[in-house]
Amino acid sequence: MNQPVSETKSGNAFAKYFFMLILGAVIGAFGAVYALNALHSNPEGKFRDGMMNTFGWNMGQLKKNVAEAKCTPTDTIPRIQAINVMARDLEAAFPKLADEPEFVKQATNLRTASNNALMAPPQTCDGVGEAMRNMGMACESCHKSFKD
Ligand code: HEC
Repeated sequence: MNQPVSETKSGNAFAKYFFMLILGAVIGAFGAVYALNALHSNPEGKFRDGMMNTFGWNMGQLKKNVAEAKCTPTDTIPRIQAINVMARDLEAAFPKLADEPEFVKQATNLRTASNNALMAPPQTCDGVGEAMRNMGMACESCHKSFKD
């Protein structure tokens, strides 16, 4: 009851300031969530970027295997299998290009190159290198035609 007036005032000012601070933080957080949703609500883009980056990862593993002289079929086959299986869905991942004969041809080239490597799995690092070149040519020629 006998609380000094000035103290009450400064308490109110603090509460107001604190409220605005929290409000700002909440608005900021909503804004960030909204922006992230906008960035990520692109399932088609996610699918193909995921596919391409997984292609890249598997090629990278093969390159690393060669650098470390790990070139037994056990080291190699899972990587080529992953590329081969994913390559079946290239048209599904790029629905706008699925009717382009050139795109289908390049996709088929990657399927053929990875199939060939699986039918006669490389036994040496030179062989792994050759399989990588064959698959890599299919990657590159499609990128040349369809990747900006
Ligand atoms: C039949 C066509 C085709 C084949 C085959 C293909 N790609 Fe791609 N790739 C594309 C296209 C088109 C893009 C551009 C995607 C985009 O703009 O969303 C791309 C993009 C990429 C990217 C960039 C992804 C990103 O997040 O921006 C990488 C990495 C990649 N490809 C790796 C590979 C590798 C490695 C292979 C072979 C094993 C391969 N690609 C085979 C069509 C192909």
